[in-house]
Amino acid sequence: TARHEVGGNVAAAWALLRDEAAGCARCPLHKPATQTVFGEGPVDAALMFVGEQPGDQEDLAGRPFVGPAGQMFDRALAAAGIDRAGVYLTNAVKHFKFEQRGPRRIHAKPGVGEIDACRWWVEQERLLVRPKVTVALGATAARSLLGRTVTIGKERGRALPLSDGSEAWITVHPSYLLRIEDKGTVAEAFEHFVADLRAANQRIA
Ligand code: URA
Repeated sequence: TARHEVGGNVAAAWALLRDEAAGCARCPLHKPATQTVFGEGPVDAALMFVGEQPGDQEDLAGRPFVGPAGQMFDRALAAAGIDRAGVYLTNAVKHFKFEQRGPRRIHAKPGVGEIDACRWWVEQERLLVRPKVTVALGATAARSLLGRTVTIGKERGRALPLSDGSEAWITVHPSYLLRIEDKGTVAEAFEHFVADLRAANQRIA
């Protein structure tokens, strides 16, 4: 692994991996996207979050979770008592997939082929960071992490063992909270999401 090559210097191995990912052409999504949006955070984080893919703002900024879904995620992290600076944040797919409609770039859901092509990067990130707990935000992240299709409602909010001895936790994607139409249920859905984050964070304590 990259960890081995640089004699245990995880930070240097991570920087090499990030630089390599900047030129990734494993799937066609790199062509229309602005740039690869790699993960960020301490390389010794005990808690890792995996999102779906960068959105419009992340694609432009080159950082994960800085747009509307990121702001919702920040609110939930704060409510769960989790310091964003202490966790590692990444995405299952590292290029923004979109449809151009006039001046607007509309989010398009990554397909299984794209998730599986990008999975190698998430695996390398996990090999370097070795989180105790990895939280998958939504179905795309869960597919990447577990290698199978997951029903979020059935599997959220409990520890799922991974082959490396660490744990996966599945929860909803923060953009789900932004899309709820029945506004009367948003507060409850937000609290459920926060409860999942809090429970996952308790496992690293
Ligand atoms: N949604 C994601 O899943 N990841 C991001 O980085 C931004 C929005």
